Amino acid sequence: QQAQPLAGCKLLITAGPTHEPIDPVRYIANRSSGKQGFAIAAAAAAAGAEVTLISGPVELHDPAGVHVIRVESAREMLDAVNAALPADVAVFAAAVADWRVESEGGQKIKKGAGAPPPLLLTENPDILASIAKREQNRPPLVIGFAAETEHLLDNAKSKLARKGCDWIVANDVSPATGVMGGDRNTIHLLTRAADEISVESWPVMSKDQVATALIARISKAVRT
Ligand code: C5P
Repeated sequence: QQAQPLAGCKLLITAGPTHEPIDPVRYIANRSSGKQGFAIAAAAAAAGAEVTLISGPVELHDPAGVHVIRVESAREMLDAVNAALPADVAVFAAAVADWRVESEGGQKIKKGAGAPPPLLLTENPDILASIAKREQNRPPLVIGFAAETEHLLDNAKSKLARKGCDWIVANDVSPATGVMGGDRNTIHLLTRAADEISVESWPVMSKDQVATALIARISKAVRT
C-alpha cells in the first residue's frame, strides 16, 4: 500500500452549514458541524492530495496541510467552488441551505406594533448539481452526500440520478442516531458506473474512520 496514494491529485471539498442573511444581524442556518467534511479534508491531505476545503461557518480549526476558504452563504460557496476548479475529485459534504431570504434587508428589521414580518424564501443554487452537470471542468469523480431521515437508500438512489454525480455517501440523520453534531456515522456508499448502481453498507464508524475509508475508496478509484 502506497503511503501517499493521492499524491498529485487535487481534491475539492465543501463542508459545514451555510448562513443565509435575513438582515445584517440575523440569518437562517442549520445544525451541520462540519466535522465530516473537515475529517475528509484531513484524510485526503494525509494521503498526499492537494486539498482545497470550502467551508461555511463552523467552529473547527484548519486541518494540517489543507487550503481552507471560509464562506457564509450558498452563493459565496458556489463562487468559491467554481474558482477552485479544476479538480480531480470533488466531495460535497456541506449542508447547504436550500433556501435564502429573497428580500435580504440592508438594515436591521425593527420590531413593530404590527404583525411579524413575513420571510419570503427563494431557492439557493444547487452547488453539487451545477458542478456535476458542467460541460467544462467537471471533476472526473463527483461525490455528494445524502442525509435522510427516512427511505434512505431510495432517496439516495434518486439523488444520484437527479444531481448527476458519480457517488453518494448516504447517512441516516434521524434525531435518534445523533449523527448531526455527533462523532459517529453510519454510511451507505452508492457508486454508479454507467447506469449500474452498487451499494456498500459500512459498519458504524467515527467520522474520522468514515473519512479514512472514503479516502481509501477514492484512492482506489483514481488509480484504476
Ligand atoms: O438535495 P440535498 O440537499 O439532500 O443534497 C445533498 C447533497 O447536495 C450534498 O452533497 C450537498 O452538499 C449538496 N448540495 C449542494 N448545494 C445545495 C444543496 C445540496 O451542493 N444547494
